Amino acid sequence: MSTTQQNVDLSSPGATKLSQQARDHLWMHFTRLSSYQNAPVPTIVRGDGARIYDVHGKAYLDGLAGLFVVQAGHGRKELAEAAYKQASELAFFPLWSYAHPQAIELADRLADAAPGDLNRVFFTTGGGEAVETAWKLAKQFFKLTGKPMKHKVISRAIAYHGTPQGALSITGIPDAKKYFEPLVPGAIKVPNTNFYRAPEHGDDLETFGRWAADQIDLAIEMEGPDTVAAVFLEPVQNSGGCFPPPPGYFQRVREICDRHDVLLVSDEVICAFGRLGTTFASDKFGYVPDMITCAKGMTSGYSPIGACVISDRLAEPFLHGNTTFAHGYTFGGHPVSAAVGLANLDLMEREGLNQHVLDNEGAFGSTLAKLRDLPIVGDVRGDGFFYGIELVKDKATKETFDADESERLLRGFLSKALFDAGLYCRADDRGDPVIQLSPPLIVGQAEFDEIEQILRSVLTEAWTRL
Ligand SMILES: Cc1ncc(COP(=O)(O)O)c(C=O)c1O
Repeated sequence: MSTTQQNVDLSSPGATKLSQQARDHLWMHFTRLSSYQNAPVPTIVRGDGARIYDVHGKAYLDGLAGLFVVQAGHGRKELAEAAYKQASELAFFPLWSYAHPQAIELADRLADAAPGDLNRVFFTTGGGEAVETAWKLAKQFFKLTGKPMKHKVISRAIAYHGTPQGALSITGIPDAKKYFEPLVPGAIKVPNTNFYRAPEHGDDLETFGRWAADQIDLAIEMEGPDTVAAVFLEPVQNSGGCFPPPPGYFQRVREICDRHDVLLVSDEVICAFGRLGTTFASDKFGYVPDMITCAKGMTSGYSPIGACVISDRLAEPFLHGNTTFAHGYTFGGHPVSAAVGLANLDLMEREGLNQHVLDNEGAFGSTLAKLRDLPIVGDVRGDGFFYGIELVKDKATKETFDADESERLLRGFLSKALFDAGLYCRADDRGDPVIQLSPPLIVGQAEFDEIEQILRSVLTEAWTRL
């Protein structure tokens, strides 16, 4: 039914027919739909490099690469052409008992790039499905290898791992889960690596890291090692505002997992494909997981795809007799997406985007760190081209904002003010309030400065409104 269901003043600034249609018919994700009842829906129509353009032609710096996705930048013709060529040749075929060259070649490329013996690729259409796949695979692996009670999973507080009900159980954000309980049982949470708010060892990063890793050990012991299948960790945790791993953290987690025969899943949905300067982020931090889940940057967003990359050891029991992993997705490993994935890996290699991130991550970090002189900036942290800026009410005590202040500050002012000032990024309060930054990997000092200047001016104004 194509009727206008709400009365909105179409003559209000920025209101358009598209905005009205969005109001009436489009269900935007993780969005309070009421906030657009009397306001235009920001509508992006075009992208070029690190810039996006709205329906009125106004340009914004894309400080979030869409949603941690557009590694190669917008408007890359060769990625669009790879999609066109593949769609013309073979638009669709499933991976259900059949294969097509693009999925085969992309699996081969990912296996080459993955650490250790992670040589087998199960394609999905996105990150949540990859996480879901990893949990199901872990359960079946243990059923096939004589440990049928190993089914639980451990993950970290405030971490986001997706919205399918298994992945949502692994997600550690109570507000994202509460309306959907009861979820899948057996998903246990442990503390994350937020050193800024370390509950213990706040003066020594390495000791804190050991403590944080040992919480996983304690949780496994508490649940019973015979019941725990896997630990899901992001290399750098996004939700809560970019928590990098303390030195030695992943090495200790690896030892703990090995000791208890628990699988380590590296959820690299954000961190892979150059976000931290390496194809897979586990490489950067020197650990070999049993599985890697990835998606977003694999195609720079020119077509959707995700994957779970699996070790030889885990794949082995599935290689015999009539054993099947009874799991799949119609569009998993879609030929167009796989072709674009291959073209994107070629482009990233040719343009040296991983090296570009490694060469410039220090400059990005130090440019953002200038904001520490603002009274509202409590912490600036991250890795590669992936940073979070934590906002506080009182720098000395690290006091955070209460729910009302957070609402006024983030929803009521910051998100819109940053956007109006020409910076698309994200003000998030899934933990303490943070601004998340993750620009396309093609940016350099000029864009770092622009991000810093816009943030400086908007955060300065935010402080005066408190
Ligand atoms: C670490 C992590 N895992 C899983 C997901 C879910 O991915 P998708 O939205 O593609 O399902 C996300 C999405 O942001 C993520 O950041």
